[in-house]
Amino acid sequence: MDLYIDQRRLQMEIDALAGYSSEPAPVVTRVVYSLADREARGYVKGLFREAGLMVREDGIGNTFARWLGSDPELAAVGTGSHIDAIPNAGKYDGVVGVLGGLEAIRALQRDGFQPRRSIELLLFTAEEPTRFGIGCLGSRMLSGTLTVKAAERLRDAEGATLDELRGMAGLLGSLDSVALPVGHYSQFVELHIEQGPMLEREGLSIGVLESIAAPAAVNISIEGEGGHAGTVLMPDRRDAFLAAAELALAIESLAKHSGGADTVATIGKCDVFPGAVNSIPSRVKITLDLRDTDGEGRDAVLHAVFGAADGVAARRGVKIDCELLNADDPAACGEEIVRAATAACEKHRVPFRTMVSRAYHDSLFMARISPMGMIFIPCRKGVSHRPDEYSSPEQIATGVLVLAETLAALAGAA
Ligand code: HGY
Ligand code: MN
Ligand code: MN
Repeated sequence: MDLYIDQRRLQMEIDALAGYSSEPAPVVTRVVYSLADREARGYVKGLFREAGLMVREDGIGNTFARWLGSDPELAAVGTGSHIDAIPNAGKYDGVVGVLGGLEAIRALQRDGFQPRRSIELLLFTAEEPTRFGIGCLGSRMLSGTLTVKAAERLRDAEGATLDELRGMAGLLGSLDSVALPVGHYSQFVELHIEQGPMLEREGLSIGVLESIAAPAAVNISIEGEGGHAGTVLMPDRRDAFLAAAELALAIESLAKHSGGADTVATIGKCDVFPGAVNSIPSRVKITLDLRDTDGEGRDAVLHAVFGAADGVAARRGVKIDCELLNADDPAACGEEIVRAATAACEKHRVPFRTMVSRAYHDSLFMARISPMGMIFIPCRKGVSHRPDEYSSPEQIATGVLVLAETLAALAGAA
């Protein structure tokens, strides 16, 4: 095979997709089921159809674009990622795996390759937790990790339900048919930007993943007592914000001293009520995102966080509720995929290394129903989830080339 990656066309498509955003360029904000997301889906499905792929959508909006293999009865090889973007994000996170996956298929088609196993490109719904607080909603449901009942209990910040929101997006299919069985795919491999600095620092072009870290998410509500900022003296206060601050610093210390270098804790959101300059906060909600490459280590810190919350509550006379949204296991990558991606790098003399992913991805949940793997490309200074997120057309093209070779190896030739 002598594959040609049309990086100019791919960059044009990445730039066009970035235009579907709730915020003006260079920011990309594309929260699931928003107008920007709905229009972006329409654009991407158009590209899938132009490539002659068979397109279908499930009840939550996971989108499947299948290139039929010569032996369509065999389990397909899957690839793909997401196109939703958190507020104030960039244009490569997830997109490189969807549009890059499409270009990998087009490159194989141009080269006259005919796969034996079908190759299916997936666009997962709601990889980001922005709307419902839980990440990877589409791949959780597709892999059966999140039940329909649990999904139907989800509400967004305005109290809208999943059914209401997906209905507005024209997704009327039953959620009962979203889950796919183990073995539905023979392998699943995702191309993604690294979202960290390692590859760039080491001057490498590709990361072949060996495992994906274990994420956990907790909603923490703190109830104290409000009052006048001038007349309530300090000893008489039960300030919910200061309790949140003490707990946040305790969480930081627990993560720093967990004994593992990969334990990371983030308090990403903090809502203060009533939020008035001269009124003591009576209620505060914060979110905790806690991860580790070691599942047991992460759980030990999680347990210690709940203990710290009890201590702060007792000392400050406030009520603290911790709602655990998810605490997922880490996932190891499939050996056959690691071998195929490594062979592709060696064939094209692409400098690479094996590594772990500290970010989570849809692949973490695809691992529940099929062997999975990931291929990383560098991003500038490791920056991601920011408008200045960047990977060059050349870096993306190298990732697409390695992905195309990997898909061809896993699908086999007709
Ligand atoms: O947060 C993550 O790890 C992913 O980028 N959603
Ligand atoms: Mn992301
Ligand atoms: Mn992502």
